[in-house]
Amino acid sequence: MITTTKLCRRFRVGDTTVHALDHVDLDIGEGDFVAVMGPSGSGKSTLMNILGFLDTPDDGRYRFFGEEVAELDDTQLSRIRNEKIGFVFQSFHLLPRLTALDNVMLPLRYSIDATAHDQDRGVELLERLGLGDRIGHRPNQLSGGQRQRVAIARSLINAPRLLLADEPTGNLDSRTSEEIMGLFGELNRDGQTILMVTHEEEIAAHAKRLIRMRDGKIEHDTTHH
Ligand SMILES: Nc1ncnc2c1ncn2[C@@H]1O[C@H](COP(=O)(O)OP(=O)(O)O)[C@@H](O)[C@H]1O
Ligand SMILES: [Mg+2]
Repeated sequence: MITTTKLCRRFRVGDTTVHALDHVDLDIGEGDFVAVMGPSGSGKSTLMNILGFLDTPDDGRYRFFGEEVAELDDTQLSRIRNEKIGFVFQSFHLLPRLTALDNVMLPLRYSIDATAHDQDRGVELLERLGLGDRIGHRPNQLSGGQRQRVAIARSLINAPRLLLADEPTGNLDSRTSEEIMGLFGELNRDGQTILMVTHEEEIAAHAKRLIRMRDGKIEHDTTHH
């Protein structure tokens, strides 16, 4: 599904060059559930951003479902990103004026074949995530865990092949974090490929595979059975 070869991303900061990603080779297969850990500044977000087409590598190759990402134009990139990749962020990124349902439906505005059926799908997703009675609520009427579940429903509305989550429990208490991880586990058992960044060992323990990064490199990559 994902193959990177010697992926590099550098940033110039003053007179120095930061190697945010330093020759990263990574393979992710369909159905994987991967946790990425590592100290602050080790390149976790940079990796997620590049895998999600939000940033571009300086060197190396990235193939996504057999497509050489560097060869795609902007229209193709945004189409594939919208159709195949769902994003969940630490700070939810919900629009405050929209209801839970309208937030969930937001990505459909950009897809050409949105139908009335999609509204049912939005409601269904919210119900599945335990928010059936919060459909018309606005973000400020919801708890942190409920907001993140709305954000997860939004990330799933286009049935993405890949779910990318950068510290999805970073703003949640431990009980709510466990709930969200229970949900990720369930999604993964249903076949959802998930790549998430986390600081917490207990959160990472929910994944099937653990990648540890340091100084822009993959230090360890272990799969438990
Ligand atoms: N837009 C940017 N401009 C300059 N430096 C950046 C930028 N994004 C990331 N970096 C640097 O790249 C390194 C990796 O950052 P990041 O991927 O955000 O790490 P992590 O998510 O593991 O904390 C850090 O040293 C960071 O300061
Ligand atoms: Mg980060």
